[in-house]
Amino acid sequence: MPSPLFALPTLNFTVTQVAAVCETLEESGDIERLARFLWSLPVAHPNIGELNKSEAVLRARAIVAFHSGHFRELYSILEHHKFTKDSHGKLQAMWLEAHYQEAEKLRGRPLGPVDKYRVRKKYPLPRTIWDGEQKTHCFKERTRSLLREWYLQDPYPNPTKKRELAQATGLTPTQVGNWFKNRRQRDRAAAAKNRTTIGVFR
Ligand SMILES: *[C@@H]1O[C@H](CO)[C@@H](O)[C@H](O)[C@H]1NC(C)=O
Ligand SMILES: *[C@@H]1O[C@H](CO)[C@@H](O)[C@H](O)[C@H]1NC(C)=O
Repeated sequence: MPSPLFALPTLNFTVTQVAAVCETLEESGDIERLARFLWSLPVAHPNIGELNKSEAVLRARAIVAFHSGHFRELYSILEHHKFTKDSHGKLQAMWLEAHYQEAEKLRGRPLGPVDKYRVRKKYPLPRTIWDGEQKTHCFKERTRSLLREWYLQDPYPNPTKKRELAQATGLTPTQVGNWFKNRRQRDRAAAAKNRTTIGVFR
């Protein structure tokens, strides 16, 4: 059944109304309906110029492009329009995920943490969706998650792996070694505590 939203001719929608519908559909997570709504917007809308510059509409177009795998279109939207800070997190995640998916398809295998690092380096976030300030935070968070991912695969990396990780994170091999040592120690302590707790309940 068509929703009441679409019963109205969108030609009569003001830019504010179109933006509000985009935001509502985006929040609802119903990408298919969002796509249909965008598609229903007339090319000859009286305020098409303004409509094309509306952040809610641009964000909606980016989301739809991402979900339908139209990555060229996604990149173009993100690169050519300046977005406000509120949109950055979501758009950055889509930028990265799209590039990961493309790299994965090219390689025909899942990307490891170092592959992902290389993809991020090759396709840095455009300044339209990143103001440069969160970099240190993001970088630290990425370093941590990279180390964590590797730890789960192998808590005892050999010197070659340590060097590779050092290169990927910008840390020194000694710093990487120390991180692994601390992490193993923490895990051992947690396991010991676990055993005691279980013992108490037995
Ligand atoms: C508005 O955006 C649509 C979709 O990106 C595009 O096809 C159209 O040419 C644009 N129109 C104007 C007047 O900028
Ligand atoms: C602690 O015990 C729970 C349940 O037995 C287990 O799932 C968890 O992985 C353990 N944690 C550690 C750090 O060994």
